[in-house]
Amino acid sequence: MTALKQLSGAPATRILGVGSTQPDTVVTNDDLASRMDTNDQWIRERVGIVERRFAGPEVSLVDMAVEAGTRALADAGLTAAEVDTVIVPNCTMPAPIPNAAAQVADRIGIQAAGAFDLNAACAGFCYALGVASDLIKAGSAGTVLVIGSEKLTDVVDPYDRANAIIFADGAGAAVVGAAEQPEIGPVSWGSAGDLVDTIYMRDHRYIYQEGQAVFRWATTKIAPVALRAVEAAGLSAADVDALIPHQANLRIVEAIGKRLRTHGAREDMVVADDIVYSGNTSSASIPMALDHMRVKGQVTKGDVVLIVGFGAGLSYAGQVIIAP
Ligand code: UT7
Repeated sequence: MTALKQLSGAPATRILGVGSTQPDTVVTNDDLASRMDTNDQWIRERVGIVERRFAGPEVSLVDMAVEAGTRALADAGLTAAEVDTVIVPNCTMPAPIPNAAAQVADRIGIQAAGAFDLNAACAGFCYALGVASDLIKAGSAGTVLVIGSEKLTDVVDPYDRANAIIFADGAGAAVVGAAEQPEIGPVSWGSAGDLVDTIYMRDHRYIYQEGQAVFRWATTKIAPVALRAVEAAGLSAADVDALIPHQANLRIVEAIGKRLRTHGAREDMVVADDIVYSGNTSSASIPMALDHMRVKGQVTKGDVVLIVGFGAGLSYAGQVIIAP
């Protein structure tokens, strides 16, 4: 049999830079209460959100991805010419074709990039980061721009109080490149397709979710996924400096943090609470939180950061990264 040549990739990968963007329009809980039967106290207590950002009709998912990707490249100190692959995890493009990634690559100026979208809903960023890392290690890609970007306001009924108070818009990006030592751990991923009916697009138009069922699943099943990611990276929970779960609901985030602490995570482990001022931005929430936490000094270069995403599918994924 004819043997084919194998590409030889990099021994390891790391995140070279991150960036994010949010639309200008801030929407408070009182703003939402003025158009539906809800109130500031209920939203703060049940979900932990104080305000979120909504994009107007003039801002698209692609626009936000271009902005976040450009900022991540600047943070990495790279030019567009140094990137060869763009992955845009998302679940809110207006139609399955065209994808977002090819347009994003073109607008950033990345010539003839390998470009594709990846849909694992709110787990999308962690899935895409795992794929990017493995593409580089296999030699299929050199430097990959991964951008979680979502315009959830396009797919949420603005008068549905169960969802309109949670979801929001934004984008977060990471540049992934080759390294001598691993700074992106193996991805720990999986799915629970038997729970597909707990989150879906009703009549192909608006998000429907069985909130309590998803809540119970997330608070019981996701901490073990995060712990698997820590183990796969050859670390223990006590090594984790910062935990960034998908920002679905502050009570879910805190429950995951609490569970990790019963498995040895330190009391001083920083737990992301970006949802408070950003809302739930699906595949954008983890890179956006990472970017905001770096700016605030909650995460600094070299920190061990545990990320884990979960959502519709149901799909989940997590890995350990070293903060750039
Ligand atoms: O990101 C993708 C993955 N998604 C998630 O992880 C979401 C997981 N689920 C959740 O975060 C929560 O289940 C929700 C935030 C969606 C809902 O919170 P909850 O604490 O589970 O509320 P609930 O749906 O059980 O509703 C409790 C009560 C109900 O009233 P009754 O029947 O007890 O009289 C609701 O009608 O709260 C009512 N309610 C509201 N009240 C004021 C529901 N939404 C609202 C609202 N404002 N916005």
